[in-house]
Amino acid sequence: MPQKKDKDVAENSSKRKSFSVKKGIKSRERVRDRGEVFTELREINNILDLTADAHRNYKDQRILEPACGNGNFLVVILERRLADIKKAIRKKDQDDIEFAILTALSTMYGVDIMPDNVKECHERLMAVIGKFYKERIPAKNRRPDFLNAVKEILRTNIQLGDMLNGKEEISFIEYTVPRDYYFVRNEYRLIDLELGINSSKKRIKPTHYLKIGGGNAD
Ligand SMILES: C[S@@+](CC[C@H](N)C(=O)[O-])C[C@H]1O[C@@H](n2cnc3c(N)ncnc32)[C@H](O)[C@@H]1O
Repeated sequence: MPQKKDKDVAENSSKRKSFSVKKGIKSRERVRDRGEVFTELREINNILDLTADAHRNYKDQRILEPACGNGNFLVVILERRLADIKKAIRKKDQDDIEFAILTALSTMYGVDIMPDNVKECHERLMAVIGKFYKERIPAKNRRPDFLNAVKEILRTNIQLGDMLNGKEEISFIEYTVPRDYYFVRNEYRLIDLELGINSSKKRIKPTHYLKIGGGNAD
C-alpha cells in the first residue's frame, strides 16, 4: 500500500520536465530501433511498491537499471531514499545529510545505450539532489565540493553502454564505507561479475566524501 509520502513524491515527479518524451516516446524511429518506450510514473510507483522497501535501503541495497532511459525509475527511487533521509537526519547535521545523500546515490546504477538519455538521467538526478539540498542546507553553508562529489558519482554510476553487445566495456564502481564520511572505491568489470569473479580491477583508498569529486577537504 503506497504511503502518503510516496504519493507526494509521485506528485513532485510528475511536475518535473520530462525532456523530449511525449506519450511515453521520443520518436517512432527510436521505438523501432531501440525499443524505447518510457514507463509512466504510476506504473513505476506500483512496481516499486511491489518490491516492498528493498530499494529504499540506501546503505546496503545496490540497484542497477540496465536500460535506464532518462532515469524514470532511478529518479523515483532517489526521491524515496531522500524522503527517508529527511525524516532520519536533522537539518543542522550537514555532514550527515551530505554523506547520506552521496551514499544513497552511490548505491544506484544505470546504463543506457543512448547518449541523450544518459545526459538527461544525470541532469534529472542532479536536479532531485539540488532541490533537496537547497531545502535542507542554507545558502551560506552549501559546499561546491559536495556538488562535485555528486557529479563524480553520477559520472561513474550512470553510464553510456551497450548491455547486450558491449558488456566487456562496462565497469562498475562499488562505493563502500570503511568509516563515517569516507568512501573506498573498487572497480569491477561487468563480465567478471556475471561470471562470479569478484576480483577488483582498481581500488581507490579511503577518501573523504568532500574529496570524491577532487575537492580539497581534509
Ligand atoms: C523500454 S525503454 C525503458 C526506459 C526506462 N527504463 C523506463 O522504464 O522508462 C528501453 C531503454 O533501453 C535502452 N536500450 C536499448 N538497447 C540497449 C542496450 N543494448 N543496452 C543498454 N540500453 C539499451 C534504450 O535506449 C531505452 O532507453
